[in-house]
This record gives sequence, structure tokens and C-alpha cells, in this order.
Amino acid sequence: MRIRDFVPSDAPRLVEILKANQQYGHPELDGPEAMMRVHQCEAAEFLVAEEDYKVVGFIRGVYDGSRAIIHLASVDPEYQGRGIGRALVNAIAKRFKERGAASLAVTVPGETGFWKKMGFRQTIRIMFAYPIEDVLAASAPPEEAGPQKKL
Ligand SMILES: CC(C)(COP(=O)(O)OP(=O)(O)OC[C@H]1O[C@@H](n2cnc3c(N)ncnc32)[C@H](O)[C@@H]1OP(=O)(O)O)[C@@H](O)C(=O)NCCC(=O)NCCS
Repeated sequence: MRIRDFVPSDAPRLVEILKANQQYGHPELDGPEAMMRVHQCEAAEFLVAEEDYKVVGFIRGVYDGSRAIIHLASVDPEYQGRGIGRALVNAIAKRFKERGAASLAVTVPGETGFWKKMGFRQTIRIMFAYPIEDVLAASAPPEEAGPQKKL
């Protein structure tokens, strides 16, 4: 197995893996165009795992200068249970530590068993707003709210 940085030509294969794991509900957040933006983002780490030159999994996350968080990880179902997820977590944790991160979090939409094995404890609740306009509307100062809200 080899772990390396994402390159743009990986995108179609990563979409295949996400679809196979039913993780492709939001192409606008996780599809090829988003992958390119993550690839170009200085704060992000975006790694893929290869087995015999075939891409079989990936992981991505960000380091904000203090804390790091993993946002997405996925391993081809045919290659799960062979240590690929573990190797991806280990590799991204090393990257973040080298950059100065002392802590690492993960957003987990589904079951937590794998992440507990990787050393994570369930402590905080992460709340999610999508689309972001929901937050902009709810947090807007009164003068920016529409006329109906002023009444
Ligand atoms: C979760 C996922 C990334 C793990 O990758 P993987 O390559 O199958 O995991 P590994 O083979 O490296 O497993 C490492 C350890 O975790 C355990 N493990 C793996 N999946 C597990 C699960 N769902 N529940 C409990 N333990 C799990 C393995 O048994 C192994 O333990 P061991 O070393 O004691 O035998 C992969 O199964 C996956 O892509 N799942 C679907 C998508 C998903 O849920 N992604 C995470 C949310 S972003």
C-alpha cells in the first residue's frame, strides 16, 4: 500500500468510492469541483491510498493553525478491513502533527466504531448548518433582516 497526496486525476475514482459507500449525497460538497478546491486549499490535507497502483481510499481534513479535523474518509468496500483506513488516519495525523496540531477531531455521520479504534473519544456535539445561508439569515443583525422581520 502507498499513501500519497491527491492529484486531480484521482477525482473520478474517488467519486466511485464515495458512491459505493453511499457517501455521495452532496456532490456540491464532495464532488470533483470541491475536490479541486480542497486540493488548492493551504489548510487542507488530502491523501489517497493506492494498492497495486489502484486508488482504493482517501482521507481529507484541515488544520486551522491550532486544531485539526478530519472531514471525510472512504475506503473502497472491496478493500475494507485490510488496514487501509488505519493507514490513512495514521498518515493524516502525522501530517497535522508536523504542522503543529496538538489535537485531532473527526466528523462522523455514521457509526463510530472505527474511529474509537483509532483513538478518538466521543466528547463534543458538532452542529451542522447546510446551506450556510441558514446561519446568515438566523444570525443577521435586525437592520439587515427583511421588512417583515422588523414588524
Ligand atoms: C470506516 C472506514 C474508513 C475504515 O476503513 P477500513 O480500511 O475498512 O479500516 P481498517 O481495515 O484500517 O480497520 C482498522 C481497525 O478498525 C476496525 N474497524 C473497521 N471498520 C469498523 C467499524 N465500522 N466498526 C468497528 N471497527 C471497525 C477494524 O476491524 C480494524 O481493527 P483491528 O485492527 O483491531 O482488526 C471504511 O470502512 C469506510 O470507508 N467505510 C464507509 C465510509 C465511512 O463510514 N467513512 C467514515 C466516515 S467519514
